[in-house]
Amino acid sequence: MAQSKLIQTCKSKITNKKRIGSGSFGDVYKVSHTDWGEVALKEMKNFEKATDRDKRSLEKEATLLSSLRCKHIVLHYGIIKEPCSFGLVMELMHHGSVKQFLENYDVAWAMKVDMVHSIILGMNYLHTTAEIVHRDLKIENVLVNRRFQTKVSDFGLAIWNRCSTRYRKKSSYELIGTISHIAPESLEDINKKPTYEFDVYSFGITLWEFITMEVPFENAQNEAHMSQCVINGQRPSLDEVPDDCPKFLLKIMKDCWNGIPNERPTFCKLKEIVDKEILEYEKTGEVSKAMEDLHKQAREKTRGSQPEEPEEASSVDQITSGMSGVQVDDDIATDSDPINPSDNGDNHERDHRQLPSNVTSSLQETHESQEEVSSATSPKKSLKKYEPQYPEKIVTDRLLLDVSVKIQGEWKIVAGYLGIPQHEINGIAIDNASYGAQEQACQMLNKWHQRNGGEATHKALAKALNKAERNDIVKML
Ligand SMILES: Nc1ncnc2c1ncn2[C@@H]1O[C@H](COP(=O)(O)OP(=O)(O)OP(=O)(O)O)[C@@H](O)[C@H]1O
Ligand SMILES: [Mg+2]
Repeated sequence: MAQSKLIQTCKSKITNKKRIGSGSFGDVYKVSHTDWGEVALKEMKNFEKATDRDKRSLEKEATLLSSLRCKHIVLHYGIIKEPCSFGLVMELMHHGSVKQFLENYDVAWAMKVDMVHSIILGMNYLHTTAEIVHRDLKIENVLVNRRFQTKVSDFGLAIWNRCSTRYRKKSSYELIGTISHIAPESLEDINKKPTYEFDVYSFGITLWEFITMEVPFENAQNEAHMSQCVINGQRPSLDEVPDDCPKFLLKIMKDCWNGIPNERPTFCKLKEIVDKEILEYEKTGEVSKAMEDLHKQAREKTRGSQPEEPEEASSVDQITSGMSGVQVDDDIATDSDPINPSDNGDNHERDHRQLPSNVTSSLQETHESQEEVSSATSPKKSLKKYEPQYPEKIVTDRLLLDVSVKIQGEWKIVAGYLGIPQHEINGIAIDNASYGAQEQACQMLNKWHQRNGGEATHKALAKALNKAERNDIVKML
């Protein structure tokens, strides 16, 4: 197999390795990668036992996963391969699994419905575009990123799971998924291959976990008991469902765990149903309100654990005087989320991210040229230090569209100043390569808006544009 850029053998590209989770197939680490930025690395246990054939199959599977692009599934960058270790490199999801996230945050139903909507969109992409059966959908495999976006993870890992299981001599049930989430038709027939309907059933159980925050079939004596009861038609208890749970969620949950596979809805159908529901929440402004509330909670958590930066400190000043000139602290970059709560007791370690090299050099140039500002005469690039004079008003979609028309090719520089990490900037550029600079600028601004909710103000945008030397656009705000 030709060596792809996705398959890297150089571990020296990895620094700051820190364990953030552990599953039955290995440990998950937060790492800094020289090419891919801050990412998650999932290392397979006992890889030294893998045969050459296994290794080739694993590489093939990882290469396929890296080709998938959808904002509702966790992005795969590639693999890190060493003689004795093999790791999948994935998008880092700061808040860990949705279960961990719901345990740490008070989340309104509007936001929960939005999260369910994202899971459905991710699953619909896997089934209709990627044509992949997930096989292991469960609440632990739905992750939440720094911007409170929910994404489906650990899909299409059939070979990975088979190899890990073989090296660890696990039971055949664990080969294909967690038993509580296995559809009755598969429990009855050990030779049955998982189908799309299998995933829909697992989604029904996942929805129950999501709504109740409980463990399904907790009182089962053993796996055989659980599987017999499921075959006989039993499902997780509805007594655990809270009274205020939206009725449509209960209905889709029950439809999805129907014992007859053909009678379960497809994810396309589920999308139609939830599209309508989410629209209602959006119309009343409940989703944005819930999002703002999450940002508030995040800020409070951060405040509780570390001193705040002075509000008006300029990132140009801080970067060039304090750090190496390459890395920017998260708070400076507008994001004040805490790190993944699963961070092994060190939840509040501050997260660093790289600015694009073009931004770094631009930052340094800006700083240097500030010394000369009094005598500078450039008409476009007024380098006067920014004096905040814009309201704390939240930006509108219309405004972002107008700004994106003006930013065009310089959107990456502005993105850096808005605190969007390098790998996300690259992702926007790749995903929208065929649409041109304006669309890329628009996507970037929308991302920033979603991520920052109530913090996405005229003032914050003006600051970033000022630093990017686009005071001609600042005037529009
Ligand atoms: N891409 C990621 N970004 C951040 N954290 C992650 C990521 N992937 C996994 N994690 C963390 O690592 C934990 C373990 O994940 P892993 O997928 O290995 O096991 P699991 O899904 O919980 O269970 P299983 O043993 O069935 O695989 C997750 O619960 C989550 O907290
Ligand atoms: Mg997992």
